[in-house]
Amino acid sequence: MPISKERAYYRAVRRVAVSMSSDVALKEVMFAIVRGTARAMTAAASLMLLDSTGKKLIHTYSWGLPQYYIRKGLLDADKSLTEVITRQPVAIADIGQDSRIQYPELAAKAGIASILGVPLTVAGTVVGSLRVYTREHIDFSNQDISFVTTMANLTTVALRWNALHKEKQEAEHGESPPEVEVATIRQAWTAAFAHPSEEEFARILGFYNIEWVYEPRSFPLRWEDDRVTEMFTPDFYLPGLDLYVELTTLKQSLVTEKNRKLRRLRELYPDIKITLLYKKDYDRLLAKYGFGPLAQARGYGVSQVLYSIAEVQHRVRQLAKQISRDYADRHPIMIGVLRGVFCFMADLIRQITVPLEVDFMAISYYGGEGSSVVKITKDIDLNLAGRHVIMVEDIIDTGLTLSYVINHLKAKGPASLAVCTLLDKRARRIVDIPLDYLGFEIPDEFVVGYGLDYGEKYRNLPFIGILGPKRPGTKQGRSAIKLD
Ligand code: IMP
Repeated sequence: MPISKERAYYRAVRRVAVSMSSDVALKEVMFAIVRGTARAMTAAASLMLLDSTGKKLIHTYSWGLPQYYIRKGLLDADKSLTEVITRQPVAIADIGQDSRIQYPELAAKAGIASILGVPLTVAGTVVGSLRVYTREHIDFSNQDISFVTTMANLTTVALRWNALHKEKQEAEHGESPPEVEVATIRQAWTAAFAHPSEEEFARILGFYNIEWVYEPRSFPLRWEDDRVTEMFTPDFYLPGLDLYVELTTLKQSLVTEKNRKLRRLRELYPDIKITLLYKKDYDRLLAKYGFGPLAQARGYGVSQVLYSIAEVQHRVRQLAKQISRDYADRHPIMIGVLRGVFCFMADLIRQITVPLEVDFMAISYYGGEGSSVVKITKDIDLNLAGRHVIMVEDIIDTGLTLSYVINHLKAKGPASLAVCTLLDKRARRIVDIPLDYLGFEIPDEFVVGYGLDYGEKYRNLPFIGILGPKRPGTKQGRSAIKLD
């Protein structure tokens, strides 16, 4: 005998309350909420959370929806059902007639007829939405709406509780006061990260103010008849750069499979920009922040001279000539990002023949664990409005620093902004920004000297050398220079 709606709703709420009072992980509670909501309403359901930017909605936990619907792409929060903005429940009896449905063909394919959405609100701030999808056209009753609202409220209680728990643990370690902020609630979703390295990467992106979305969509790679048999879900999407990033912290032997998938993805979706970040790259990125295995590495020295003093000086002269020609009728302001750039900048400007001004800025790489605030430790003093600016860098590696600094400088309204870098480690690029002046494209090695450091050492070397393990017993000379 079918149970009454009332009873089904009561049972669903009770089950969630029980799961919350037992010692289960946040993820389990979220699944219990979504599954319970869907079953009680004989429908599908999805818990959607706003991404770190607060602009995109992501299906975080779903029940009864096909993969192609869940992974269809990002939803613009302000175009999607407006409960996210108005903090009111939104019921759509016929989705075919509603312009807010952002992927109507996929919704039709999934057989969705009506949608009910209620906001998830924490301390007055909307953090997401709980949605129900039915196959029949339904005029949702007050009872339906109040049931889904109760489930949404339970969701926020679970998120708050989880965040409070985290805060308490941190406070016990003397790190921060036990005060639950919306930011902390957002962090609670990091429970959804499949791997700690992904969480760490998200923090690094946050440090650079780069918008990110975790596992935004899946790309079908193979089909049998109408069924998708293989998919690929990149770890991150960076909307501002329209770039997908896949982290691979696996052993090299396991990376081959990922590479195969990536090749296939590129073939099938040539317009998609995706980059693969290998374990080695990732460790280096972490080392920059003082974390990870490379940060602890000892016993390095310079294993090889990459460019001699003469080679560096010759190239710097050529760059200066080029800049002098290009800026013959303009007065550029040259801005260096400290500290690695000081040798290059000093040599470069002394070879430039047009009048120019110089300024410096400094940014800190060490945000500290848990901090996601980019630190400009020294901003420029000159007024850039309407001026022709040349940004001077020592080395571009992932491109994250450059991208951050360029955005910062653009906001100051220069008439033009060019980029000049001495070295370019193109192989490791995450953010690709066109370079106007380039000294040398270098291999994927860590280099030091001529202003560049490793742990603040080696800046005073007059040449550019490759950092490597000291090789005992090798001859002194071009390929083996012991320094400490
Ligand atoms: P990006 O943000 O990854 O492009 O890194 C740029 C910054 O990282 C540079 O300004 C350097 O301070 C540092 N960096 C990157 N690669 C090297 C290297 O090989 N040697 C020394 N510093 C480096």
